[in-house]
Amino acid sequence: MKNIAVLTSGGDAPGMNAAIRAVVRSGINSGLRVFGIKRGYNGLIQGDIQEMKMSSVSDIIQRGGTILRTARSEEFKTPEGLAKAVNVAKVFNIDGIVVIGGDGSFAGAQALTNSGIACIGVPGTIDNDLAYTDYTIGFDTAVNNALDAINKIRDTSASHERVSIIEVMGRHCGDIALHAGIAGGAESIIVPEIEFSLDSICRMLIQSKNRGKLHSIILLAEGAGDGIKLEEQIRGMVDIEVRTTILGYIQRGGNATAVDRLLASRMGAKAVELLVAGKEGRVVGIRDNKIFDMEIHEALAMKKVFNKELFELSDVLTSNLSD
Ligand code: F6P
Repeated sequence: MKNIAVLTSGGDAPGMNAAIRAVVRSGINSGLRVFGIKRGYNGLIQGDIQEMKMSSVSDIIQRGGTILRTARSEEFKTPEGLAKAVNVAKVFNIDGIVVIGGDGSFAGAQALTNSGIACIGVPGTIDNDLAYTDYTIGFDTAVNNALDAINKIRDTSASHERVSIIEVMGRHCGDIALHAGIAGGAESIIVPEIEFSLDSICRMLIQSKNRGKLHSIILLAEGAGDGIKLEEQIRGMVDIEVRTTILGYIQRGGNATAVDRLLASRMGAKAVELLVAGKEGRVVGIRDNKIFDMEIHEALAMKKVFNKELFELSDVLTSNLSD
């Protein structure tokens, strides 16, 4: 292993830059040449590749987004696209690639590995939707971004005595809603993993109203429904003011938290260590605060287990039902 490369793919996530920095610096410190591939797999197909030096990654550890840019490449999913990518990697004498992204990016890393380019996956997505690892890079920052918004919305929601629905991202995974909801004291959390009852939410709002508390925060994961539709449904059932905020991309940007920077630094360095040791087709993860690695196809086959205990805790901690 002499030349390695790094790319970011899929939705950007805060901490991806810290991971790129870790790959570049630990790669160079291990005696390798390190290349940066722009715009994910599209850049690999197009040969948009540049050598990176220690200084190329100065002053980026804190920054959200990704200096390498990112893309969801449709062309790479075709046999022709994959063949072009493999060819370009060979032309650049790239022996191994660290792929920072989510499940779609890992499927690409597996395909490249099967075609003779050794790949290691590093989990970078705000969604925390990968079953094999406790946390993905970017999740903690997204939760903190959502929490910051909840705190602010609670101020105005309480002042006007309104119910606030806050819709957060996460695709099919409710982890952002769950973690931000508990940390922000949300009165109700709606996630795709747990069937929700509109009736019981409305009952909770009526009970709360009857004892004089008109403001509540309902945290809605995007995978569980549409905030605006839910607002209309609640308005139709309860005589109460409701407002909806869709957080959107606010939660995906901004400086990475210390937790994400540390995780990214540890995972990026581990990915290089694996390539240097001649490993391929593996992903890096964290379990019980220990960094580990496993085969990509095994990781992708795992089914994410939702933390029901944490979800139930949110019910126990809500003050809306009694005094
Ligand atoms: O996977 C990250 C994510 O932010 C999801 O939470 C969200 O559903 C999706 O990406 C949004 O995708 P796009 O950036 O293409 O709008």
